[in-house]
Amino acid sequence: MFSRTKKLNSYNRYLITVYISVILYFIAIIAPVGAVHLDVLKNSCVDCHTTLSPFTDEQRRLNEIRLNHTVRDISCSLECHEDVIRRTASDNFQQWSDSDHSKYHVTCDACHGGNPDVKTEAEAHASMKDVNDPDSTIYFKNIPDTCGKCHAEELEHFRDTMHYQRLRSTASGPSCITCHQPHSFKVLKSSELTALCSVCHNPKDKIAVASVPQDAKRALEKQKEFQEELLKAKNAVAGVKAAGRDVSSAQMDLDRAISVMNDIPSTWHGFNLKDFDEQIQNGIDWAKKAQYKTSDIEPAAPAAPGPGIIMAFAILIMIYLMRKR
Ligand code: HEC
Ligand code: HEC
Ligand code: HEC
Ligand code: HEC
Ligand code: HEC
Repeated sequence: MFSRTKKLNSYNRYLITVYISVILYFIAIIAPVGAVHLDVLKNSCVDCHTTLSPFTDEQRRLNEIRLNHTVRDISCSLECHEDVIRRTASDNFQQWSDSDHSKYHVTCDACHGGNPDVKTEAEAHASMKDVNDPDSTIYFKNIPDTCGKCHAEELEHFRDTMHYQRLRSTASGPSCITCHQPHSFKVLKSSELTALCSVCHNPKDKIAVASVPQDAKRALEKQKEFQEELLKAKNAVAGVKAAGRDVSSAQMDLDRAISVMNDIPSTWHGFNLKDFDEQIQNGIDWAKKAQYKTSDIEPAAPAAPGPGIIMAFAILIMIYLMRKR
């Protein structure tokens, strides 16, 4: 009897340990990325703009109807017009709440300013400037600097481009949000890129060389090849390491390739496609070198023909010569 309870106790203790581990794991690893409810932020911009969102299907449908009315200029009460304004604010909120920025708690005030510690709309917005005010953080010329507070490497490369210069001087160059839609802040894939670059780089407008959209697509596709080669190199080095062999030389090449890979997002924003292409090629070469060196350490098939094959050839040649006589 006694030993049975003791057994149960230790089993319970085991269960408790497992539960606690799972909870700790959740808090430490899973919760910070995505699972945290936005309430815990204690940020009045987020709190208030959440409630502006049309939540139920019915509310959403009502908003559609009201929006259609205003678009077609059907006379509408003041209340409807207010609703359209609220809808813009709530749409932005919904896109933002699906973005990586919301996961990492980059809240509205990070880009818009304002005071997220006060509750009323007037107070919260008080220090916020209008989007058309040249001093506003989201005035088109200021956007790269606003984003660059956190994306410093992207900004550093972007500052060196014609894009940046033309944006500042004539507003004809793209800014960060031309390519990364507010407020979803998506990263375009190579397949979506051609259409975007073609908005300005096309045969009609003749901005820079005509092949820009195709070159850009090709450059980003080559990145996929690099990713594959890097993965192969990582696996090869790990495999040989696990077998207890010395991998220091291959590891050095692998590290070089990894460092090229880490620099890609910022290098890309220099929009020097030739330079970018060369960087990727360097990365591919380092990754291949690392693979080659691991195969050197562990020779697979013999490179030179074995003695058996040489003998067989000699006999064939002898037979041939004898028959010729
Ligand atoms: C108490 C509610 C409330 C709070 C708090 C609040 N907002 Fe708003 N916000 C609104 C409403 C309602 C609108 C849309 C109607 C309007 O323009 O008055 C709006 C509009 C906006 C706009 C669109 C520009 C404009 O003036 O029309 C931005 C940008 C914005 N809010 C950002 C923020 C930021 C950043 C914070 C936090 C510092 C914040 N809001 C806090 C209610 C709020
Ligand atoms: C990472 C930066 C960033 C974050 C975070 C962000 N915004 Fe914006 N937002 C911008 C930029 C840049 C523009 C300017 C867009 C343009 O010029 O077309 C903008 C434009 C807007 C506009 C329309 C412009 C206006 O003033 O009328 C609204 C409304 C708005 N944001 C609301 C919000 C709300 C609400 C949040 C939080 C839920 C938020 N934004 C979070 C960068 C951001
Ligand atoms: C307060 C800091 C901050 C500001 C300001 C900021 N970001 Fe971010 N951004 C982040 C963080 C954090 C992440 C997520 C981690 C990462 O990818 O580095 C991120 C991610 C991104 C991503 C990648 C999203 C993905 O799905 O991979 C893009 C694109 C982006 N930001 C664009 C912008 C643009 C454009 C602006 C300016 C309008 C901006 N950011 C302003 C902090 C910021
Ligand atoms: C002309 C279009 C364009 C402009 C302008 C632009 N980007 Fe990008 N950005 C891209 C593309 C395309 C990618 C994906 C590159 C890749 O796959 O390597 C990207 C990738 C990113 C990423 C994701 C990097 C990662 O870790 O995956 C961030 C963050 C980012 N850009 C921020 C910015 C900021 C900040 C600015 C302004 C200073 C900016 N971008 C201007 C097109 C642009
Ligand atoms: C909003 C318009 C616009 C968009 C969109 C745009 N560009 Fe440009 N681009 C320009 C302008 C303007 C110039 C400067 C041309 C000049 O004056 O010589 C330029 C120049 C360039 C150059 C010449 C190199 C340099 O910096 O001197 C390259 C390369 C380039 N763009 C690549 C791209 C790529 C890749 C994309 C798509 C991801 C893109 N651009 C999207 C407007 C744009």
